[in-house]
Amino acid sequence: MSNEKRPDQGYVLSNADEGERRRLEAIEAAYDPRTCDRLSRLGVVPGARVLLLGAGGGSVARWAAEEVGPSGRVVATDVDPRFLESLADKYPQLDVVRNDAVNEELPAGPYDVAHARLLLGHLPQREDVLRKMADALVPGGAVLVEDFDWGSYGPALPNEAAAEAIGVVSDFLRAVGFDTAFGRRLPTLMRRIGLAEVDAEGLVLTLRGATFPLEPMYRQTFDRLLPMLIDGGQMTAESARALHERFDDPEHDMVTQTLMSVWGRRPSPTNER
Ligand SMILES: C[S@@+](CC[C@H](N)C(=O)[O-])C[C@H]1O[C@@H](n2cnc3c(N)ncnc32)[C@H](O)[C@@H]1O
Repeated sequence: MSNEKRPDQGYVLSNADEGERRRLEAIEAAYDPRTCDRLSRLGVVPGARVLLLGAGGGSVARWAAEEVGPSGRVVATDVDPRFLESLADKYPQLDVVRNDAVNEELPAGPYDVAHARLLLGHLPQREDVLRKMADALVPGGAVLVEDFDWGSYGPALPNEAAAEAIGVVSDFLRAVGFDTAFGRRLPTLMRRIGLAEVDAEGLVLTLRGATFPLEPMYRQTFDRLLPMLIDGGQMTAESARALHERFDDPEHDMVTQTLMSVWGRRPSPTNER
């Protein structure tokens, strides 16, 4: 883990931390097929201008750069773009920009499509960032935001210790500004800021059995959060050890959070009612 001071609020899982690359790869392996399919349908096509916020490990940026081709433009931002930088050399149509979506203006558009996955839920200023994304679009352009809703998250079979550990982790994340219900609130929020044609779908996976690709995401997340929880007295070392053992138990199935993919369009004369 890095020795940098943790922020009191906001994103606590820095890209500088050991294991973060693997955590991001697990997210990509589990969710890219759904994300890229939806982005294609929303307008990531040859010639499109695309904004990707908090682009992380860069697989969606790479895919988008190939989809839009030389006549398009992809702007991939991250507050720490260390995993994106090598992509910019390969694709002239891809700009990698170090940008803090909360404290800075977004890179100038306009864009046909703007996307953020597993970013806004972490940020206390998530509604402001959502507005900035919408404002960066051309009329008729689409925003796709993908974030977890924790309602589905839990052990597949009754397991008090596992349920309790999830409660401790979600309380901790909420205390640093994470919204465990953001995924389900997104459609309403998008409509409230004036987006049209808002729609959503959710993806729930099971850990172990069906979806091994995602497991490193959970392991790495817990590996990073547990020392913070033990330091803060929210979890005992013994409970943390038991949590690790459950990850190694082939009989311990977990149902994941629901990844809500939520999209809408900036009104244009043709879709305004
Ligand atoms: C959980 S990762 C998700 C990465 C990628 N979107 C994905 O789903 O594969 C969140 C990413 O957002 C970045 N991030 C955190 N706070 C940010 C901010 N204020 N502005 C821009 N990026 C931020 C992190 O550095 C990290 O790369």
